Amino acid sequence: MIYFDNAATTGKKPLAVIKTVTTALQEYSANPGRSGHNLSIKTATAVYNVREKVANFFGASGAENVVFTLNCTQSINLVLKGVLKRGDHVIVSSLEHNAVMRPLKKIGISFDVAKVSLEDDEKTLEAFKNAIKPNTKMIFCTAASNVCGKLLPLEAIGKLCLKRHLLFGVDAAQGAGVLPINMGRMNIDYLCVAPHKGLYAPMGIGILICQKDIENTIIEGGTGTNSLELFQPTILPEKFESGTVNVPAILGVGAGLEYVEKLGLDKIYTHEMMLIKNLYKSLSKMDEIRLYTPPPQKDLYAPVLAFNYGDYKSDYVAEYLSQNGVAVRGGYHCAPIAHKHLGTLENGAVRVSVATFNTAKEIESLVHLLNSKKIRKKL
Ligand code: ALA
Repeated sequence: MIYFDNAATTGKKPLAVIKTVTTALQEYSANPGRSGHNLSIKTATAVYNVREKVANFFGASGAENVVFTLNCTQSINLVLKGVLKRGDHVIVSSLEHNAVMRPLKKIGISFDVAKVSLEDDEKTLEAFKNAIKPNTKMIFCTAASNVCGKLLPLEAIGKLCLKRHLLFGVDAAQGAGVLPINMGRMNIDYLCVAPHKGLYAPMGIGILICQKDIENTIIEGGTGTNSLELFQPTILPEKFESGTVNVPAILGVGAGLEYVEKLGLDKIYTHEMMLIKNLYKSLSKMDEIRLYTPPPQKDLYAPVLAFNYGDYKSDYVAEYLSQNGVAVRGGYHCAPIAHKHLGTLENGAVRVSVATFNTAKEIESLVHLLNSKKIRKKL
């Protein structure tokens, strides 16, 4: 099977990740930070080493700022529900995922949506600036759209937040491991990461990196520290890590990070963008295909492309491709406001998202399938 659904989770995990997870199950099967015996200490040390790696990779100020969660959605919930209070105002982008929109709706915080320009980052920045109100507390936005790949100008938004004394939170589900995200340089206060995507880790693990405090917890429980206290510890990372953490997946994050670092972000991004640019070029020559973004350019787009085949429902096209050995995602990608922005609310969109292991030949096979007479008969 040709796997082009890497924005959902990377379809091939590097051998080093697989080996590390297996080793974790065999040799690190003790609860970190709970017991004083050697195996527990050895496991806690291994987990701490991954925290340190993650902090360095994303330019955070310390390993203790790195919290391991269940997934990126949980990380986003912890930020939005832990920081925002009645009366606060938030600005999000018009390309957000439901991982951001649903928690905001649930807590009933007032928010505005800044329209992202698909061509001009200056216009996007203006939209964020114009949405600032006296009670705006935070800008929270995605690093890259999971539907169409548009990157948000994080560095410029971070500068704006610094200047206007706003908190800055980023959903890096699609950007981490592909783009150089640095919390210090970009002035990011809260970074939420889905390491099973661009960091090639197993599913069931998320990362939250906090440079600023999150006042409220949404889950409390045992942390292995201050055990006689009935109150939740206030120090990081324990404050947000109640219950046993997913050690095999955390060690898998460490191995995934090493894989990405060894290849280098530049090389990864260049390779993946080459594939997406080839695809765009071929699709733009086909009458039946609808594209929703300008040709993807370096530093403006992530390697994710949305399209439709005529007026057909994107799910049908995705199903046809699956039956012919190509995995893509069709439908709505859990991001209704992004579909509204792109004008794809009716049929959703077929999404192609690539990773390091994809090849130009695989892109050619996809183009061939979309070009074949068979698809017209089938749809
Ligand atoms: N949010 C993930 C996606 O875009 C699951 O497919």
